[in-house]
Amino acid sequence: MKRLNNLVAIVTGAASGIGAATAARFNAEGATVVEWDATPYAGGVAVDVRDEAAVQGSIADVVRAHGRVDVLVNAAGVAGGGPVHLMGAEEWDRVIGVNLTGTFVTNKYVIAAMLDQEPAANGQRGSIINIASIEGIEGTEGGSAYNASKGGVVLLTKNLAMDYGRRGIRANAICPGFIDTPMMSAVFDMDGMEDIRKSFVNAHALGRCGTPAEIASAALFLASEDASFVTGSALVVDGGYTAGHGHGIAELMGLG
Ligand SMILES: NC(=O)c1ccc[n+]([C@@H]2O[C@H](COP(=O)([O-])OP(=O)(O)OC[C@H]3O[C@@H](n4cnc5c(N)ncnc54)[C@H](O)[C@@H]3O)[C@@H](O)[C@H]2O)c1
Repeated sequence: MKRLNNLVAIVTGAASGIGAATAARFNAEGATVVEWDATPYAGGVAVDVRDEAAVQGSIADVVRAHGRVDVLVNAAGVAGGGPVHLMGAEEWDRVIGVNLTGTFVTNKYVIAAMLDQEPAANGQRGSIINIASIEGIEGTEGGSAYNASKGGVVLLTKNLAMDYGRRGIRANAICPGFIDTPMMSAVFDMDGMEDIRKSFVNAHALGRCGTPAEIASAALFLASEDASFVTGSALVVDGGYTAGHGHGIAELMGLG
């Protein structure tokens, strides 16, 4: 039995990485999936999440074509940041603009559409899933704008849960650890990053980075009936990255 039969889902950032894996998994689970990305590609609709008019018009298109929208997965995002005294305001605006303001814009218009529609057979009007990051719940050297944007996404999502829970809409964030995607490669393939990459990989208790499919699985759970009592959560899917700090002492004590 497919887990998202009869649901209409919008996935932003669907051209690549986590968004692409989520769109594919939702399709396989029976959802009608509408893919948005700033980068035009076959099968996707060109929507920049910062562009209010484009988002509003594209949501109206989805409702016209499919009658409703049940799930939003907000995976559009950009990396960036730097130590603040070295960072230009334009870099701050770019990162906050896509990751936080873009999330606000898509949430705003999708929630408005969800409030306008009759509840589905399960009594729910919709499920919002915002891809935040473990960098939204703890600091990272040099993270600044990125961490601020993702911390903002976590708290925005909790507030959505409070405002719309009694109106049939659940809202949850996912906080991935480091996931093998083009975004991660773009950062770790830069000159001088080889040892830093190893250090980040080792910081996961499982000793590896995650895959986009592992984040898609978490999004599937939050979109499905299995999560009917889950709202306002920031679901950490990080291979143990935030579980604690490893210093090798357990090995010294004889852990093989
Ligand atoms: N890869 C990781 O380690 C990691 C970890 C935690 C959180 N995240 C978050 O997961 C999400 C997906 O990241 P990814 O690693 O798959 O990156 P990615 O670069 O592979 O994909 C991001 C997609 O977002 C699109 N995008 C960028 N700006 C946009 C805009 N203004 N409007 C619409 N689309 C836009 C890009 O074109 C791209 O297709 C991001 O929000 C990212 O911050 C990633």
